[in-house]
Amino acid sequence: MKIRHSLLLLLSAMLMIGCNTNAQNKEKSMKAQGKKILIAYYSYSGNTKVVANQIKELTGGDICEIKVVKPYPTDYNGVVNQAKDEIDKGYEPEITTTKVNIDDYDIIFVGSPCWWYTIASPVRTFLKQNNLKGKIIIPFMTHGGSGLKDQDIKKLCPNSTFLDGVEVSGSSVNTSKPKVEKWLKKINVID
Ligand SMILES: Cc1cc2nc3c(=O)[nH]c(=O)nc-3n(C[C@H](O)[C@H](O)[C@H](O)COP(=O)(O)O)c2cc1C
Repeated sequence: MKIRHSLLLLLSAMLMIGCNTNAQNKEKSMKAQGKKILIAYYSYSGNTKVVANQIKELTGGDICEIKVVKPYPTDYNGVVNQAKDEIDKGYEPEITTTKVNIDDYDIIFVGSPCWWYTIASPVRTFLKQNNLKGKIIIPFMTHGGSGLKDQDIKKLCPNSTFLDGVEVSGSSVNTSKPKVEKWLKKINVID
């Protein structure tokens, strides 16, 4: 009887130590660690901008909109054709210089609409113009059904660390904040 009692005590003590260790092992979120966050994005028709602002509200990061010097055509076929041509040629449209200093940041969210199964050309320019070596990059994308197509971000930033990105259908950006929050918690950016 006494032995059984002692064994039980020993077992519960071991469990308590185990739980304690787990609690200590849970790494603080990046936000809690004070990591500096930048949300850089391009948006042609406004969807990606909505998601970028949701990320800003949830993380408290700084936001930077990538803008083109020469505006894209306003008609859908016009922009679709121009984008196809630019992507086929690897063209980098001129973007307005933003005032951000990338060196000030540890984590860069990179947001783009899906254009022809990849990032929009202005995001390509941004990634070519800024050195993201050693940074943590987190992609996000809005789309019309293709999902997250971040392969070119990875190609353009071979010396960065990537965390899992998120995709949001363009038609559901106005209700995507809970999805965005769940994703940010999963990748441990926020608690
Ligand atoms: C030029 C162009 C190309 C597109 N190509 C795709 C595509 O390949 N796959 C897809 O799912 N959606 C595609 N779309 C739809 C956009 O990705 C989608 O509407 C997105 O939410 C737009 O984001 P924005 O409002 O921030 O520009 C394309 C839209 C445009 C204008």
